[in-house]
Amino acid sequence: MSSEELRKKFLKFFEERGHKIISSASLIPENDPTTLFTSSGMQPLVPYLMGEPHPLGKRLVDIQKSFRAEDIEEVGDNRHTTFFEMMGNWSLGDYFKKEQLNWLFEFLIEELKLNPQKLYVSVFRGNKEIGIERDLESVEIWKDIFKKNGIEAKDVDFAEKKGIDNGRIFYYDESKNWWSRSGAPNEMPIGEIGGPDSEVFYDFGEELKRHENSKYKNQPCHINCGCGRFVEIGNSVFIEFINTNKGFKPLPQKNVDFGGGLERLVAILQGEKNIFKTDLFIDILKKIEMLSGLKYENNMLPFEVIADHLRAATFIMGDDKGVAPSNVSQGYVVRRLIRRAIRYGQQIEIKQDLWIQEIAQVIIDKYKSVYPELERNAKFIMDNLANEGIKFEKTLEKGLKELEKLFDNYKGNFKNFVLDEKSLFNLYQTYGFPFELSIEEINRKRVQAGGTPMSKETEGNLLKLFREEIKKHQELSRTAAAGKFRGGLLDTSFKTRSLHTACHLLGAALRQVLGEGVRQKGSNITAERLRFDFSYPEKLTNEQIKKVEEIVNEIIKNNLPVSFKEIPLKEAKEEGAIGVFESKYGEKVKVYMIGKEDEWVSKEICGGPHAKSTGELGHFKIIKEESSSAGVRRIKAILE
Ligand code: ALA
Repeated sequence: MSSEELRKKFLKFFEERGHKIISSASLIPENDPTTLFTSSGMQPLVPYLMGEPHPLGKRLVDIQKSFRAEDIEEVGDNRHTTFFEMMGNWSLGDYFKKEQLNWLFEFLIEELKLNPQKLYVSVFRGNKEIGIERDLESVEIWKDIFKKNGIEAKDVDFAEKKGIDNGRIFYYDESKNWWSRSGAPNEMPIGEIGGPDSEVFYDFGEELKRHENSKYKNQPCHINCGCGRFVEIGNSVFIEFINTNKGFKPLPQKNVDFGGGLERLVAILQGEKNIFKTDLFIDILKKIEMLSGLKYENNMLPFEVIADHLRAATFIMGDDKGVAPSNVSQGYVVRRLIRRAIRYGQQIEIKQDLWIQEIAQVIIDKYKSVYPELERNAKFIMDNLANEGIKFEKTLEKGLKELEKLFDNYKGNFKNFVLDEKSLFNLYQTYGFPFELSIEEINRKRVQAGGTPMSKETEGNLLKLFREEIKKHQELSRTAAAGKFRGGLLDTSFKTRSLHTACHLLGAALRQVLGEGVRQKGSNITAERLRFDFSYPEKLTNEQIKKVEEIVNEIIKNNLPVSFKEIPLKEAKEEGAIGVFESKYGEKVKVYMIGKEDEWVSKEICGGPHAKSTGELGHFKIIKEESSSAGVRRIKAILE
């Protein structure tokens, strides 16, 4: 079964069960302070999971573009990528565990024809301290499902110690069977939602157990052990709790958030144990073979890193809210992906100029029918790859030479070699040589000498010292992004809602003062401030800034109502609503209006939530106006 067939089958299966198909949201989250990128299907749907009605009802199905930078080091282990497609079905306070687990199994067994003998599941063990019970309800449902398929499903606790023990259903704690954007319950900030979950695993078979000569050697194999025998193919999260300052409380509605790994299912359907050996990657790998003259089978790691990183970078730049490589936040991640790919390209001796563009073209061709934005933004992708490629190759050569010098000066045994933070900083500052690459080079040297890569702890400590060094040089902003992949969550409290509304007012005021051509290029909200990027070629004058503030504060003073309606995207555009929305299915969108009927001061396509009226906002003040990238200005503002 091809990846395209799987996409269609999944959407159709849930459509037939009353779900409405929605388009993937952008990879660049709007007004979501939680992460730099959309990293799961639930992220764009948070307001609806919290109780806001969705324009299309209570049952949705989608395939969401997702990116997880924290998996960058896992690429090459047979089942991880940084960018991936997450298949999702959603109950927004409608059906719950019984329907979800039965449908999921039916989909896997009946539609995809997976062998039920190869499927294993996990459920939440329960935790008295946070007052959440063991999920026996799911266990009963699973037993029933397996029984219908001729399997007596035994439930086993503590497989971490006992191994599989002939079990089929396994209990794990909140580090495995709990889901929220910020992770386990104790990591969830006040206002964050989440719940216990139940995962389904596929058994690739004994022969994949990488227990010999590996870190898994002395531990029992179980479905979550990470050795590669089992792969998680999907997770049904029962989002029913919100964290409050009095502990976990039930949400007004019980939700289902299912996330399935498209790449992983494709591998299973195509009889492969490695997600790269599927139709999703085959053309990319062939291209790398052509460029390098080497065989994938003999060079799996560099091939997979290149394919993964360039696919991710192409998708991030090719988004309608695409981000260019830079030294800050999302742009820094794109830069790191491209540079790491180039580095691995050198390792397999690819010599052609601008080879990364050739690979990006293969990626665009492979995916453009499903994600037409890649083709719309192809020029942006190609221009940025060219720029970045040229910049990096120049600096890299110098950096490597410098590193070699440092190696030459070293008199001890390379087995335990490390560099101090000052040298690492110098490589970064003077030669543009990224911290991660220095570490990789050092580790290579250590392994060559018969040692092992430095421990994660040593690396973490070095990174800390390295960052302090940067701070000293007043360049903290350059690396702030590196640590911001998880955590830093904030609730959608009153404050963030008001700042979100202020973003719309700011956009409207900027268009009034600078001209209608001003386009929003992204925004970001924390509890303290809003950040708003927009297209404009030059620095704003003090008068312009003052004028913008006055307009926004005038609207606030007039206490105008904020309202919304749900209409088809086409109509919204015809009515002149602004805002980026990628839609393949012609679904309805929410349009937020500020002001009075036919005298709107702002009309934008947006998911919300917003303040009820502008009077709630307080006093608006711009605290910074600066350049963000070529042709894009950035404003930071607060509400006092
Ligand atoms: N939101 C869940 C996950 O990302 C489905 O695993």
